[in-house]
Amino acid sequence: MRILGIESSCDETGVALVETTGSAMPRLLSHALFSQIEMHQAYGGVVPELASRDHIRRVLPLTRQVLAEAGATLAEIDVLAYTRGPGLAGALLVGSGVACALAAALGKPVLGVHHLEGHLLSPFLSADPPEFPFIALLVSGGHTQLMRVDGVGRYELLGETIDDAAGEAFDKSAKLMGLPYPGGPGLSRLAEQGNPAAYKLPRPLMHSGDLDFSFAGLKTAVLTQSQKIGPAARTEGAPERADLAASTQAAIVEVLVKKSTTALKAFGMKRLVVAGGVGANRELRAQLNAACAKAQVRVHYPELHLCTDNGAMIAMAAAMRLQAGVQTAQALYSFDVKPRWPLQELSPVRVPCVSPV
Ligand code: KG4
Ligand code: ZN
Repeated sequence: MRILGIESSCDETGVALVETTGSAMPRLLSHALFSQIEMHQAYGGVVPELASRDHIRRVLPLTRQVLAEAGATLAEIDVLAYTRGPGLAGALLVGSGVACALAAALGKPVLGVHHLEGHLLSPFLSADPPEFPFIALLVSGGHTQLMRVDGVGRYELLGETIDDAAGEAFDKSAKLMGLPYPGGPGLSRLAEQGNPAAYKLPRPLMHSGDLDFSFAGLKTAVLTQSQKIGPAARTEGAPERADLAASTQAAIVEVLVKKSTTALKAFGMKRLVVAGGVGANRELRAQLNAACAKAQVRVHYPELHLCTDNGAMIAMAAAMRLQAGVQTAQALYSFDVKPRWPLQELSPVRVPCVSPV
């Protein structure tokens, strides 16, 4: 079975073709991506209406490219999958509209995928896929969550941010240092030249005893520190700027590592899956690898280029849902998007989770 996946929830248009054979792990045949980041940089963040219009421009050429690279034709697609939510309503409508229109024209069924489930299952596209059950640390631009994952569609939320996401903490702090949107990758490159102990920044909710996060206060502390430093906090080449970047990254990473290891211990899990854009962060990977090696826990990441938004994870999540029999694709072509959509709504049974404390 061949599944075409379309991602258009935010500022990346992604299309991919995945093939399933029986119960074997689905195989990625081809994928293509267009990032709108450069267009939004002029505004310091994503402009929703511009994002929607650009998805319209990109989605069909990317689909043609994916089919050509896989040596496949439209007629050979069995299921059309698209990101149903969460995300920007207008942007989601483009992917859903195109998937439904193609499906209606081809007489094929469609399947709407949860964007975070795509991130969560993206490590299954790697050469060393995880096995269920595992603890998942989902760290994207809009979400910071710890989940217990017992199988496809069986997700229990253990903790999440009560304000900003880790990605937002990276992006907002980076902006204070004069780095372009999205600041996460730039801040982490800058941090490599700095001293992570140079400035004392808070580790919010580090010892709260639960698995929730909070990053809004950290951003305020970075703002206060940058005001104390003065213009050097935004000056290219200034050692203070690199030190501030390193100190900010160290604070975010320390909290993420601490809460992840607490969750692993509390549920006696020996596997951790890290997904979402912040999962590309080198320091986070190094610290998690060290902590997990110590606790004899295996840690899995998506391939670096599949950490941020892409179509492959959407096609993969659709393939795994179909394979596991938790959902069937249907010939229902209404543009049905869910801009707000908690991931745990996908779970058929609510498994009550035990508090870690
Ligand atoms: O998962 P994603 O592509 O989009 C959402 O679904 O939100 O995540 C984007 C986020 C942005 O906040 C970006 O700054 C962050 O991931 N990010 C990073 C790195 N690469 C991307 N943050 C820290 N270090 C990185 N290397
Ligand atoms: Zn994402």
